[in-house]
This record gives sequence, structure tokens and C-alpha cells, in this order.
Amino acid sequence: MVAARGCRPKGEKAVKPAHIAIIMDGNGRWARARGLPRTAGHRAGVESLRRTVRAAGEMGIRWLTVYAFSSENWSRPKAEVSDLMGLLKLFIRRDLAELHQNGVRVRIVGKRDGLEPDIAALLGEAESLTAGNTNMNLVVAFNYGGRDEILRAARALAIEAKAGRLDPEDVTMQDFEARLDTADMPDPDLIIRTSGEQRLSNFLLWQAAYAEFVFVPCRWPDFGSDDLAAAIAVFEERDRRFGGAAAQEAVS
Ligand code: FPP
Repeated sequence: MVAARGCRPKGEKAVKPAHIAIIMDGNGRWARARGLPRTAGHRAGVESLRRTVRAAGEMGIRWLTVYAFSSENWSRPKAEVSDLMGLLKLFIRRDLAELHQNGVRVRIVGKRDGLEPDIAALLGEAESLTAGNTNMNLVVAFNYGGRDEILRAARALAIEAKAGRLDPEDVTMQDFEARLDTADMPDPDLIIRTSGEQRLSNFLLWQAAYAEFVFVPCRWPDFGSDDLAAAIAVFEERDRRFGGAAAQEAVS
């Protein structure tokens, strides 16, 4: 294969992504292709999520963020929304013990206000039970929208400025990031989207500034550890410059 410009320079050591974020897309199409209801696709999607968390842990990935339910997903038919809520509850009830046992810290990003009390309580329980774990971080984006997150952070800063606790002239990037749901989390290095769509769909808009994107044709329920390993291998071939010059050009 001809090395495209932007590929990792020869001889440079491959660097694994510390943080992978996944847009788990294609559950509905997976189900339709099998003559099954969409709910069957989401159920198979949970299995795939379970496999992927295990595989990422085994591959030494420290941070995994998954887009489980967007702030726009409420507009889906009521039955589908209720099914997704049920699956989230099931996932936490069934998998929390194993995640905890494996030293996985679970964190949730997204808007908490207005969530049903039982869901909010489960999310809180998952976070508090696993708060001391350090092997791996699983970040579940639930009721999450990038624009909503940015707006909430901007509003929080505005409220503090209005109260006189902050001078708007002095607001830094760090001040802003500290008010995002992802405060204290590293930005994603690699964002994977399954099912062939090539868009961000309001996911991690701020945090994705320098992420590498890998679009995978398979639908989410078919995504496996081989696909994850392949996406990581593609990432490792990329030459990340973060707006600077390529390593070789920077010195010449
Ligand atoms: C996209 O597929 C997937 C979602 C909107 C939800 C992702 C959810 C899961 C993987 C399972 C649930 C997991 C938890 C923990 C809640 P789609 O329905 O948009 O598929 P389509 O584009 O083919 O219709």
C-alpha cells in the first residue's frame, strides 16, 4: 500500500490511543436486515457494548466513551425510547458488578436534569460504586448532546460572572473545560463510528478538536474485537500534528 501523506513517519513508534470514543450506530439497520424489530437491534447492541468494553480493557485502552443515548434520541417513537431506557437499566444492573470487579470506573456525561428518578439513581450508583477504580474508565454518554453540554458550561460561567465571582475578561480555556461534563477527562484520541455514516451527530463537539476519526462499515451489533484492533491499527498509522508541523518538517 502506498503510504498517504500524513501517515506515521517510518521508524516512529506506534502510540496507542489512550481514549477511544465510539458512536455505536446501525442497530436499527442490523435488525431490519434480519427482519427483526429495532429493539432486537438495540439488544444485540448491548451485547456488542459488553464485548467491546472487555476487549478495550484487554487491549490496555484506559478510556472508552460510548454514545448510548443522545439528547435528540427522545424524538424517537415512545416505545423505542422506553426500550432504550430499559436496556440502560439492564446494562447497569447486570454488568455493574463485573465492571467493578475488573476495576472499571464508570462515569456518565450528559444532562441529568429531568431524567426519571430511577434512571438518575442507577447512574449515580454506577458512578459512586466504581469511583475508586483505576484500571479503566468507561464513560457513558447518556442524554448527551455536545451543543447542550457547551451551552450548559457557558451558562455556568455566565452565572458566575454575573455573581461577581469571575471576570469575563479572564476566562480561560481551562475555566471553560472545567465546566464541561468531561472536566478532568482527557480528550478522545480516536473516534470510531460504525455503520458507514461519516458524521459526528453532536458527539463530543468540543473534545473532538484533534481526534482522529475511523469510520467502520459494519453495523454496531456486528462490531467485534477484530474491528476494534483494526481501528486502533489505523490510528497508529496516523501522524497527529495538533495544528503544528510534521515532526520531520518542524526541524528542517
Ligand atoms: C444507533 O443505532 C444506536 C443508538 C441510538 C443507541 C445505542 C444504544 C446501544 C448500543 C444499546 C443500548 C445501550 C445502552 C447502555 C443504553 P440506530 O438505532 O440509530 O440504528 P440505525 O441508524 O440503523 O437506525
